[in-house]
Amino acid sequence: MAVECADVESTVFEVVDELLDSIDGDFEGELFPQMRLIADAGFSSIDFVQMTVMIEEQLGEKIGFQDMLMRDGQYVQDLTLGEVIAFTESRLRKPAAASAAVTAPSAPAPAVGRYEGQKVTAQDVAAFTQLIKPRRVGPSGGAQRKNKRAVFVLSPPRSGSTLLRVMIAGNPALFAPPELHLLSYATMDERRADLNTEHSEHLLDGAVRALMHTRGWTGDQARQFIGECEASGTSTREFFGSLQENLGNRLLVDKTPTYAFSVDILRQAEEYFEDALYIHLIRHPCGMIRSYEESNLTRMMPLMMKNSDFSTAALAEMIWLVSNRNILQFSESVASDRWLSVSYENIVTDPEGNMRRLCDFLDVPYDDDMINPYGDNKARMTDGVDSASKMSGDLKFHLHRQIDPAAATRWRQFCSEDRLGAETMELISKLDADVASIRA
Ligand code: A3P
Repeated sequence: MAVECADVESTVFEVVDELLDSIDGDFEGELFPQMRLIADAGFSSIDFVQMTVMIEEQLGEKIGFQDMLMRDGQYVQDLTLGEVIAFTESRLRKPAAASAAVTAPSAPAPAVGRYEGQKVTAQDVAAFTQLIKPRRVGPSGGAQRKNKRAVFVLSPPRSGSTLLRVMIAGNPALFAPPELHLLSYATMDERRADLNTEHSEHLLDGAVRALMHTRGWTGDQARQFIGECEASGTSTREFFGSLQENLGNRLLVDKTPTYAFSVDILRQAEEYFEDALYIHLIRHPCGMIRSYEESNLTRMMPLMMKNSDFSTAALAEMIWLVSNRNILQFSESVASDRWLSVSYENIVTDPEGNMRRLCDFLDVPYDDDMINPYGDNKARMTDGVDSASKMSGDLKFHLHRQIDPAAATRWRQFCSEDRLGAETMELISKLDADVASIRA
């Protein structure tokens, strides 16, 4: 055994300590083995996932933590620090068994808000829309000639967008880095000013990762270049261009779910790029809501009205509704041959069929590596710049070991369409016929 038990204990303590620093919880004082991670430390399920990624990274071993998170077909309700240590040590003594289902422990009950248990109404949606920070997307500056073609994956968060991005990154004709967060800002400087907060600074890393990959730079070199762009007033369009310069014939694919929060942001893609292509990724709202509740994204996205009294489920539903509504509205201004709708449910149940369809749309040859997303993590940029735990996008991607078809319908154990508001139901019925199967 390469790693000593004493190392495991100190690694787990260090990781939990570091995570506690980033959680706005009440826990203070010394960690102890009987400490319960949800009840005492205030962990949410995404903290569990982050903890497992960090422990694996520090120990340099794949542990297979999903077996710790699920017992006898049930998700564990809580875990003590001692249990995490014991599990990790046992895994280092014997090889991990294959595991089917992947999930994190149930998140603590979401904060009960004004709308807990009530259906989302048109008035709620109007109030919610006011909470989204208005985005002033100004002139892009610099050369007015449009950049060459790029591809955008458009979806709300928790729609399987990280999985789709990593599948796309398996095709050598495509370049799909982690979330770039460029289109929402006119200049690189404005982008830094908005994202440079404790909860969002990791969102700056997608651009760093992309430069490291395209130019063979270290993280520091890439950050220095971006710093120079910020200081010199470089527009985000010019920055997109400098990424595209080094891609040869590869198409740049940007998946940044927050673009869908505003039609004005989406329209920037038409302003910046020559004949951009769009992939609308749709997931059933109940699946997205369940995923959002489990991931405690509200904490990670202060933009989304942390202080509102909507319940987590109501917020998730409105994020689904407003994002998809914006995407559909934007699609009306785009030629139909530049638009493809796909669903998360279809991708996980028929990965090859859907990747072939996507390749036909993008006019690139299909590649089998697309349906093996757990291949080379450096090439697919699924490692973070400094640490995998800081990767933007879905940390749960790391818990899976393969594309999991059961994930398409897991939400059915927890909720039904009966809880959805009338506006959400109306939008479901407007979605492309290709994705009607998400309700089946
Ligand atoms: P759940 O939370 O319902 O499990 P996004 O990347 O847009 O935030 O989407 C996250 C969702 O994609 C999560 O849904 C996550 O589990 C799912 N996902 C990630 N990797 C997956 C895989 N290999 N197979 C199936 N679903 C996956």
